[in-house]
Amino acid sequence: MEITNVSEYEALAKQKLPKMVYDYYSSGAEDEWTLKENREAFSRILFRPRVLIDVSNIDMTTTVLGFKISMPIMIAPSAMQKMAHPEGELATARAASAAGTIMTLSSWSTCSVEEVNSTGPGIRFFQLYVYKDRSIVRQLLRRAERAGFKAIALTVDTPRLGRREADIKNRFTLPPSLTLKNFEELDLGKMDKTNDSGLASYVAGQVDRSLSWKDVKWLQTVTSLPIVVKGVMTAEDARLAIEAGAAGIIVSNHGARQLDYVPATISCLEEVIKGAQGRVPVFLDGGVRRGTDVFKALALGASGVFIGRPVLFSLAVDGEAGVKKMLQMLRDELELTMALSGCTSLKEITRNHVITEADKYRLSRL
Ligand code: FNR
Repeated sequence: MEITNVSEYEALAKQKLPKMVYDYYSSGAEDEWTLKENREAFSRILFRPRVLIDVSNIDMTTTVLGFKISMPIMIAPSAMQKMAHPEGELATARAASAAGTIMTLSSWSTCSVEEVNSTGPGIRFFQLYVYKDRSIVRQLLRRAERAGFKAIALTVDTPRLGRREADIKNRFTLPPSLTLKNFEELDLGKMDKTNDSGLASYVAGQVDRSLSWKDVKWLQTVTSLPIVVKGVMTAEDARLAIEAGAAGIIVSNHGARQLDYVPATISCLEEVIKGAQGRVPVFLDGGVRRGTDVFKALALGASGVFIGRPVLFSLAVDGEAGVKKMLQMLRDELELTMALSGCTSLKEITRNHVITEADKYRLSRL
């Protein structure tokens, strides 16, 4: 069957992957209310398209932290990609480079920063989990810098792992043939099988729960790379992130895998953007599955979006070619949405091109 949209990869991946792996990739925390809401909130935002504008040429290029990319659609960090496909993160890196966009590599990748760098040129960010042992963090940052990574995406929503019940039931653990490659030589590349989620135990053992804003400042003393804070959901934290020296903010609820019953990211975006007051770019991830979703995020002020699960599912189904096709479909859909809304470049996408629930409420009271 021909794949005609990004969401279709999920059912195909489900057929292909072991249950433990599919469940780990797809699930959210607890009741998965936020998981559903990340999608549904997009569906409540509607368009106010403009017509009779010459849309014969559409420019989707943009600049992120000074790096020119082909479109405002980038790859979010997701862990352990070799469980999806034998080439894992290497295939994802090649697909991102071919598409002219940014890949973010997870700390918990099954290929090392050096291996990913060896795939060739590409603009890549490194996602950082801060370990209790800060010498590990220093080493990792140095390796990421040497391997040509251009920025650090510091994940701030994971002092502990969210309760993902499928992983608990499945006793989720990294298959013994694989390792968290960046940590292999530090003897932290393996995950024990436990009576629970193996990943939750690993996080409890290694990740620093005491992480706070002062550590964002500390990180700037050990790396020269810009730091993008991933996992901000409020205006207050946007302000604190900027005060702490962040070069950018990613509005993220970790794909609804951490705290359940937080709003959808698209519902928090405008608040965070207000908090940031244009001082740093604000990005979004969570539930982006259509070009229309990308347009909505940009209209509400995002400088770009990141894609999580569709990368894993398209990788599982068709490796590098799958990820390439997934990115191409999103690109084509965004281009079409721009054409049908009367926008020929990203800067022409404005707040007036969309109508949110809050707008509808305000209108109904006029
Ligand atoms: C993630 N995410 C994630 N985030 C992070 O900072 N470090 C990581 O290692 C991972 N790993 C990870 C694994 C899997 C299986 C998923 C689904 C997600 C979160 C990810 O970066 C992103 O925030 C969400 O996936 C975005 O939501 P969507 O696009 O999956 O709905």
